[in-house]
Amino acid sequence: MRVDFHSHILPGMDDGAKDVAQAMELLGMLKKDGVDVVVATPHFYLDDDSVDDFLKARSESALRLNEAILSSKKNFPEIRLGAEVYFSPALLELEIDKLCISGTNYLLIELPYQSFSTVLLNSFHDFVRYCGHGIILAHIERYFEFNTFGSIDEILEGEVLAQFNCDSALEWRTRNRLLKLFFEGRLHIMGSDAHDPVRRPPRFGKAEKFLRRKYGNNEVNLLLKAAELAIKNAESGKIAGLRQGSFSF
Ligand SMILES: [Fe+2]
Repeated sequence: MRVDFHSHILPGMDDGAKDVAQAMELLGMLKKDGVDVVVATPHFYLDDDSVDDFLKARSESALRLNEAILSSKKNFPEIRLGAEVYFSPALLELEIDKLCISGTNYLLIELPYQSFSTVLLNSFHDFVRYCGHGIILAHIERYFEFNTFGSIDEILEGEVLAQFNCDSALEWRTRNRLLKLFFEGRLHIMGSDAHDPVRRPPRFGKAEKFLRRKYGNNEVNLLLKAAELAIKNAESGKIAGLRQGSFSF
């Protein structure tokens, strides 16, 4: 089973698919890559939106897309609704359970693009501890530029799962550090972070192929298994444990 855990396919929701036609094109590309389930994760910024307004816009967008899927009479990956939630300690004051990926207890969280200060690390870990949800950290490689491996390790403490973007596995600037995490069992979930068919297409199949060629089927199968377990709402400890010790770097 292939699950794309991070995408901006919902039409008109954010800087992703601008209309239903683009969304359908993205879904077609994901289907071609063998993706069975795609998690739609439009951006949620607490300063810009209330949870209820966001959910209303999300369901209207999903409805328009579903209507187009039904009338196309074609098979596309199943869509699960979620959100890419920009971190703030104030999230604890909201009904964030409504932002979990549907059918799971997981939140996809995006952090500010900066070095992880003690204040940020502490407030993030307090959030992890008290929010009552499993945390998947979106595109972990985006923080490499500002942080050492030590800081990346610190942010992933407490069974936080790390998601990486397909593009970054293919991009030489991020690939080596990403693969170091991969081999250390600290990289759990793959996501396309697809936005549109031209500038930021899914590249799920291309990334999978590259990883299979370079690191073998066993490693990549474990990566796919982790995503399957997460979408089935398995506990994060079980997912994090899948790859630990499977390879020594
Ligand atoms: Fe994203």
